[in-house]
Amino acid sequence: MDWGMKNRFSKIIRPEDGRCVMLAIDHGYFLGPTEKLENPKETIKPLLPHADSIMLTRGILRTSVSPEINVPIVLRVSGGSSIIGEDLSKEAIVTSIEEAIKLNASCLALSIFIGSKYESQTLGNLSKLVDDGERYGIPILAVTAVGKEMARDARYLGLACRIASELGAHVVKTYYCKDFTKVVESCPIPIIIAGGKKISEREALQLTFDAINDGASGVDMGRNIWQSDYPIAMIKAVKSIVHENYNFAEAYDLFLTESKAKIQNAF
Ligand code: R5P
Repeated sequence: MDWGMKNRFSKIIRPEDGRCVMLAIDHGYFLGPTEKLENPKETIKPLLPHADSIMLTRGILRTSVSPEINVPIVLRVSGGSSIIGEDLSKEAIVTSIEEAIKLNASCLALSIFIGSKYESQTLGNLSKLVDDGERYGIPILAVTAVGKEMARDARYLGLACRIASELGAHVVKTYYCKDFTKVVESCPIPIIIAGGKKISEREALQLTFDAINDGASGVDMGRNIWQSDYPIAMIKAVKSIVHENYNFAEAYDLFLTESKAKIQNAF
């Protein structure tokens, strides 16, 4: 890795512990105004001091985030399909590398859809983006998107993560699953996990702990943070697991303490 690539990468995965808390707020790119992200500015602002980086599209970055922030940007550059369109996997690169540089992105994110109709197109997108990223020293996050009909098991996710690494991605986002260590062991780049659909805070923290314990390098988490009634308490608790080695019970206790304090302060 050259200096610029290493420098940007260190803004995504903290060099001191090899971990990251990436806040995912890119959902609107195919879901539209997702619950609690209808007004992105309002949702994002209080969470910024607690996130290592934020993952979002250029549209939400420009309209809803102040350029004076000190949080690294993971720019989602793939898209072009919607939840009601022909096929979600039919994605293209929708933001140029020059635009990403202008927006001071520290990392570029793109989805790959292994096993789907447009698998080959999305893998071609990844390869092109890796070439662009290598040219300008910007690391690439491959997002292993899972079609409705795909099983989120170690065999499938292991395949997707390994292919992402073979094509040159620098970090890969996937889902936690049974036998997750097998996915980690067969992938030579850091793996971070998505939270997925909203579940209880207790379950989401257990998921985070299990993933870190099984070798994940952090989270790229969205709905289980900002769809919580206590998003700040939640991101702090997630962070305690990722960076402070809290176990599940300690992190859940922190969540309860922080959320109770918020309730008390309201009266
Ligand atoms: C999905 O492809 C989006 O890129 C999200 O960023 C990703 O799923 C992480 O968000 P969540 O934790 O809500 O699943």
